[in-house]
Amino acid sequence: MQILIIDLGSQYTEIIRRSLRYLGYRSLILPPEESLEWIKKNKPKGIILSGGSASVYDQDAPKVPEEIMDMGIPVLGICFGMQWMAYKQDNGSVHRVQEGKSYGPVEVSFETESGNRLFADLPEKLKCWSSHGDSVKNAPDGFKVTATSLAGSVIEAMENGEKNLFGVQFHPEVEQTEDENAILRNFTEKICGCKPDYSKEDIIQEIRERTKKELGSGTAIIGVSGGVDSTTLAAILAPALGEHLKAFMIDTGGMRKGEVEKVKEMAKRAGIHLEVVDKYKEKFVREIGTTIDAEEKRAKFRKVYGEVFQETAKNCHATHMIQGTLATDLIESGSKGNSDLIKTHHNVDLELGLKEIMPLEDFFKFEVRDLAYEFGLEDLVAKRHPFPGPGLYLRIVGVPVTDELLEIVREADDEVSKILIRHGADGLISQIIVALLGVKTVGVKGDGRVYEYSIAVRTVETADFMTVKGFQLDPEICSEIISTLTRHPKIVRVFFDWTPKPPATTEFE
Ligand code: XMP
Repeated sequence: MQILIIDLGSQYTEIIRRSLRYLGYRSLILPPEESLEWIKKNKPKGIILSGGSASVYDQDAPKVPEEIMDMGIPVLGICFGMQWMAYKQDNGSVHRVQEGKSYGPVEVSFETESGNRLFADLPEKLKCWSSHGDSVKNAPDGFKVTATSLAGSVIEAMENGEKNLFGVQFHPEVEQTEDENAILRNFTEKICGCKPDYSKEDIIQEIRERTKKELGSGTAIIGVSGGVDSTTLAAILAPALGEHLKAFMIDTGGMRKGEVEKVKEMAKRAGIHLEVVDKYKEKFVREIGTTIDAEEKRAKFRKVYGEVFQETAKNCHATHMIQGTLATDLIESGSKGNSDLIKTHHNVDLELGLKEIMPLEDFFKFEVRDLAYEFGLEDLVAKRHPFPGPGLYLRIVGVPVTDELLEIVREADDEVSKILIRHGADGLISQIIVALLGVKTVGVKGDGRVYEYSIAVRTVETADFMTVKGFQLDPEICSEIISTLTRHPKIVRVFFDWTPKPPATTEFE
């Protein structure tokens, strides 16, 4: 383990670990009281002190062993970590909360000229993320100020180059600091001399071991939707859990054209023994079709999905349920961190009386896509656009779902996909959402009046789906989509939607 992260109570501690993992480094998180012994025994190449909500002046502030600053190991103190470093050198060097507090984006000016290693290759000014009460008032003896904000009035970074001690007041680990991980990369590579040691095989091995440990002698059920997350997870776990893993695909009736066959083929290729449960399709349509409200539809889908899952689990004597839920799903469902509920996800916090295992809960989409390549899933999973669990049920907007409308939107979705593939445009887009809009409008077909539905085609670009940009299609492609879709007797108009998220979400519901 090359890097030790000492957790001083920050909500971002896990994000430091994830950023290091992304850069290819394994790291360990320990509380301060366990850190010294571990450091002496394991001699890491670098130490990162996380932020934290305490003030260095609090009686119960985390007690970091001071020896770490004299062991010749580079130390990077983030936020509280930097304040602690300053305070320990000079106990008058930290401002109390009133003077220095800052929450949100801050423009930081860096000292990049004089061979500064931590900020090498950064521009002179950069948007960074800060979230602190106290702040460092003056750099203690032996330290120099290497970054500031608010016209030099706030010390944003300091270092003692001789002793390899570095402090940053802002948070380099979060995405809102627009350095693309350069600061953590410089610390690990240029200052600590780390060599990447975290391969995909390590990640896969770790996921398998953690899951095996949690499962013990039990049997787990996993729902494979054919999406990147659940399919990759089933492929990772199938060889490790063998008979202890039962993989199912629930055909909800809201799948895309040819979806079930594609998923079956994919599972076979990835070594997953998959059983398709399709006897509940009518129940899904019947129950979801009783409302047009987005959240109620999601709640109904979730309820039926839960019932079907529970019954399936009972039939195979499962004790656990394995979920491919990602960090993003948990954040947006309000289950992780302090964020608001944006949408109810069908598979988050399902209470089925089974123990839940979520091996991907710290992972982000791009990481899971990377793993998919390891299992020969590149065409069907890694390059495949995501599709939500409730599927086409979320793509019929403003009118109750029926079998007939599902069929219309399924055909429209298939036609749009085929056109985009033919024009080589699908690879440029992160997701295509084809939805039937339930507001009827007047049209004229074959010289007769029609009063029918519209289709909305939404094409977006994104890396993580937390935010998306609209992708504007060529007019030639739009014309082909319009002429193809309006051939259907029930489709009068086609709308193109390039609204970003925020304010619009990716899906319509
Ligand atoms: P939103 O609409 O929240 O979508 O911007 C972000 C990404 O998540 C997908 N999505 C879901 N996936 N179950 C899923 O498995 C769901 O309930 C769900 N809702 C949205 C959406 O398609 C997009 O890729």
